[in-house]
Amino acid sequence: MTGEPISDEEMHRLFEAARWAPSTYNEQEWRFLYARRDTAPWPVFFELLAEGNRAWCKQAALLCVIVAHRVFEMNGKPNPVHVFDSGLAFENLALQGTAMDLVVHGMQGFDFDKARSSLGVPDDYAVSAMFAVGRPGDPDKLPPELREREFPSPRKPIEGIIGEGRFSF
Ligand SMILES: Cc1cc2nc3c(=O)[nH]c(=O)nc-3n(C[C@H](O)[C@H](O)[C@H](O)COP(=O)(O)O)c2cc1C
Repeated sequence: MTGEPISDEEMHRLFEAARWAPSTYNEQEWRFLYARRDTAPWPVFFELLAEGNRAWCKQAALLCVIVAHRVFEMNGKPNPVHVFDSGLAFENLALQGTAMDLVVHGMQGFDFDKARSSLGVPDDYAVSAMFAVGRPGDPDKLPPELREREFPSPRKPIEGIIGEGRFSF
């Protein structure tokens, strides 16, 4: 990423896409806590990141922590798909960002407990993941260890992810 900011309008389009994700009983369990580069919350978010992620996130425009409401609003009972639904919202946002020629990169390499305490996330919300958004930079300007990761990631073949009937993997 280049370190350039993204505009208010771009941010709006990203979160607008997330907003329209489907969810169980239309719960919309996702909440997005964010920090933009060069703002007061940025260091708090940046310090949550694992060393390896800091190396490239220092060039991001936006850092975000996704939290998911664990219980149903209507009755307070556990919602078994709160993280799943929040993942759908993230994917909407990631696809929107990709369509806008932005980088949107999910992360689990961060301190989940610290995110909860430093961002004041209540117990009925699960800290689920972080992601970074930015403008794509020139891969040739990356340090060698990151540059060599700049190739399309493979995927398992379809036969490796589907099975008829009982679990057989
Ligand atoms: C929830 C989630 C967490 C991830 N955590 C990290 C991370 O902490 N650091 C990182 O560099 N990449 C992380 N990734 C990126 C994945 O490694 C990457 O999506 C995967 O290898 C497939 O590559 P692709 O997205 O380039 O196709 C994460 C992705 C997701 C969806």
